[in-house]
Amino acid sequence: PDPGWTTRADVVVIGSGIAGLTAALRLREHVDRVLVVTKDVLAAGSTQWAQGGIAAALGPEDTPAEHELDTLVAGAGACDADAVRVLVTEGPEAVHELIALGAQFDHSPDGALSLTREGGHHRDRIAHAGGDATGAEIQRALIAAVEAAPEIEVIQHALAVDLLLDGPAGEGGGIAGVTLHVMGEGQRDGVGAVHCRAVVLASGGLGQVFSQTTNPAVSTGDGMAIALRAGATLRDLEFVQFHPTVMYLGPDSVGQQPLISEAVRGEGAFLVDFEGRRIMEGVHELADLAPRDVVAKAIMRRMTETGHPHMWLDARHLGGAFWERRFPTILATARSHDIDPVTELIPVAPACHYASGGAATDLWGRTDVPGLYATGEAACSGVHGANRLASNSLLEGLVFSRRIASVLPDELRPWAEPTTDERTPGLVSGAVRPELQEVMSARAGVLRSADGLGDAAGHLEKLTGVPADTPDVASWETTNLLTIAGALVEAAALREETRGSHWREDFPERDDARWAGHFDVRMRDGET
Ligand code: SIN
Repeated sequence: PDPGWTTRADVVVIGSGIAGLTAALRLREHVDRVLVVTKDVLAAGSTQWAQGGIAAALGPEDTPAEHELDTLVAGAGACDADAVRVLVTEGPEAVHELIALGAQFDHSPDGALSLTREGGHHRDRIAHAGGDATGAEIQRALIAAVEAAPEIEVIQHALAVDLLLDGPAGEGGGIAGVTLHVMGEGQRDGVGAVHCRAVVLASGGLGQVFSQTTNPAVSTGDGMAIALRAGATLRDLEFVQFHPTVMYLGPDSVGQQPLISEAVRGEGAFLVDFEGRRIMEGVHELADLAPRDVVAKAIMRRMTETGHPHMWLDARHLGGAFWERRFPTILATARSHDIDPVTELIPVAPACHYASGGAATDLWGRTDVPGLYATGEAACSGVHGANRLASNSLLEGLVFSRRIASVLPDELRPWAEPTTDERTPGLVSGAVRPELQEVMSARAGVLRSADGLGDAAGHLEKLTGVPADTPDVASWETTNLLTIAGALVEAAALREETRGSHWREDFPERDDARWAGHFDVRMRDGET
């Protein structure tokens, strides 16, 4: 689209969760003009919704080496060991900096940081805030810091449509700018262009590819799709984590669903079936605190065997006072849906939670497009492998955004003129989104097979033929969802094994001899 307005910034940060705002706050110390663009308001992304907390070796008995081992085990042989080492060694300092910035974490009566446990961790190492409102507190502190930094400009309600390049995508073309579709922001309304020398992609995940997800409505894979169109490599897209305990609100409830944090199991809750039998006993040495994929699979298995659409979480024994103090957000949400966890079982089922894959980066957040950096859920730094360890995602955003800010100022490219943009895809109608989500949930969700993935690919192909009437945000989002869904299905079909969060019914075993590597997706001539 032709820009109706243009502006300039040295660096554009796309996204305003922990990854984007950390990058912006650190970059402004070394770069003249930093512009943050965000599709909704600053707090609308996934960070705000994080419950459990942020993992780091902060306890007196814990060590980065132990955190490293738990991360590698959860990642099921698909982590990048160097990236994991960076994450766990730089993690504690990064969390202390977040505290110094103003984020108020919970403390025990003796004044020590309160640490809890979640699936796959062998130590208490999850710092939390407001009981179960960790993300909201982190987001609050980061927004306050950004608002107090006049050097950082923010444009809200701004969808990043595409990256502008100074040469052909995938053939050396580097960052020259970003086109934005801005909704209702005064002078900068409608489609415009920001000329810039670097872009930090921190736009979060793709949960809205599926019908039920813990992700907010804004998580439509936009950042991954624009990176792909700009020639960046996407990696590990098949590894989508399904959170085991998402509140089940019935078959007609679609979009963002309430999360019941793993920390509830960390504090002693356990899963039962309709007969009251414990689901996780005998399945794994950590029982209800086994890694997330193990728990999600055990629940799905019991659902399939018994024909029930959900299982139950029993947390009644935690008691009313404990619930009020430790999990006030979850308690209020459950009660708003007429479930009282103090006296009743909570209906739960797995739902899409986290994309371990994304734009492939090196240890400094660089993608393979010159001038394009990626961090947080939009990136694939390699720390999560086939299955992210609980509460490692906030930490990843924090650690790798600091790293990007430490190299980017010295690598700023000269200002470049954008070449003609011929990458804009045919826009697909926003009306196809529910069908896209249904097909992805049924065929490419927690349980996959060659037949199901083949059906999904055919169905998605048909949906790409439904054109949009107008180039609005709904059609851009749906086009991006379709691009990413297609790439995800392709990668999932290629991986003929079961590993971490990727579960193939037709290849139920992990197969290190054939499939230990990664699947990369690139775009050529508009096709992935
Ligand atoms: C949770 O609180 O269970 C989610 C934590 C995470 O996804 O890391």
